[in-house]
Amino acid sequence: MEWKRCKYLAAMNTIKSVAVCGAGTMGSGIAQVAAMAGYTTIQMDVHEPTLAKSKELIHKNLRFLVNKGKLIQAEMDACINRIHFTTETSACKADLIIEAIIEKEEAKINLFQLLAGINPETTLFATNTSSISISRIAHHIPHPERVLGIHFFNPAPLMKLVEVVSGKQSNSASIDKAVNWVKAVGKTPIVCKDAPGFVVNRVARHYYLESMKAMQEHKMLPEEVDRLMESSGFKMGPCKLMDLIGIDINFGVSQIVWNDLGKPIRLTPSTLQQAKVEAGELGRKTGKGFYSYQQD
Ligand SMILES: NC(=O)c1ccc[n+]([C@@H]2O[C@H](COP(=O)([O-])OP(=O)(O)OC[C@H]3O[C@@H](n4cnc5c(N)ncnc54)[C@H](O)[C@@H]3O)[C@@H](O)[C@H]2O)c1
Repeated sequence: MEWKRCKYLAAMNTIKSVAVCGAGTMGSGIAQVAAMAGYTTIQMDVHEPTLAKSKELIHKNLRFLVNKGKLIQAEMDACINRIHFTTETSACKADLIIEAIIEKEEAKINLFQLLAGINPETTLFATNTSSISISRIAHHIPHPERVLGIHFFNPAPLMKLVEVVSGKQSNSASIDKAVNWVKAVGKTPIVCKDAPGFVVNRVARHYYLESMKAMQEHKMLPEEVDRLMESSGFKMGPCKLMDLIGIDINFGVSQIVWNDLGKPIRLTPSTLQQAKVEAGELGRKTGKGFYSYQQD
């Protein structure tokens, strides 16, 4: 089975332990991926209810795999035992730190500065940011050559692609380590440059923004836009996708990409999306976005 191959590769990798900061949509999935590949994993979030939800979700996902015959019970138990759930930032001591906290530059810098003070200089610092400049974050961190982007896609346990983003200061040893680790967890790493939105999020901006323009200008409903785009070959319509990503996260990425590219008119963040953020309609995670969802 594929996950056994991952565990073999994991054993060959110099990284032995991983701390995932943030247990929301992305952090929870990344922690699951790391633990399934055999890594001792710390899953940290400052918000206790989110941490509890992440624990529940990882159990549910693994149980699903057991029921499908893709994982045996002993493997599920071992995987769960590998994850240490905590609300303590000071518990995040590991060979690889991956932060998946809110999309705010200052928050990410503060967290890395704190963790740099309690981890050795050999610890690799990776951010899962979708859009914030790696070089700007690295500039504030001791030994910036070990700071880079490891950008998973949503949902992390299922999506194969991972952008490994090289900042101005990232050295080749750090990039190689990250690429090998991404392979060891069974994903496909693509190394890319530190540019606004990197590659996927820059290209995808138009998918979201133009669909919201279509809704505003042509009075179209989310389900109409989604149905059209899905019929034209896209796997998931833009509104369903924004709800899955989190409308606040998607809006934050739009703002950063727009700003960092010099505010081009075509990439102006949507007022429709802004209104949803202000109303707290953030998508699946709050039960309402472009669609309504039943909360577990
Ligand atoms: N949602 C997506 O589809 C997606 C995809 C790829 C990358 N990303 C990126 O991943 C990151 C996280 O996004 P998300 O969607 O998981 O966000 P989210 O809102 O679901 O979760 C963020 C979590 O971070 C926690 N947090 C905030 N400050 C913290 C701190 N200092 N220490 C520990 N935990 C803290 C919050 O309590 C929250 O649970 C962002 O940088 C985002 O751009 C998101």
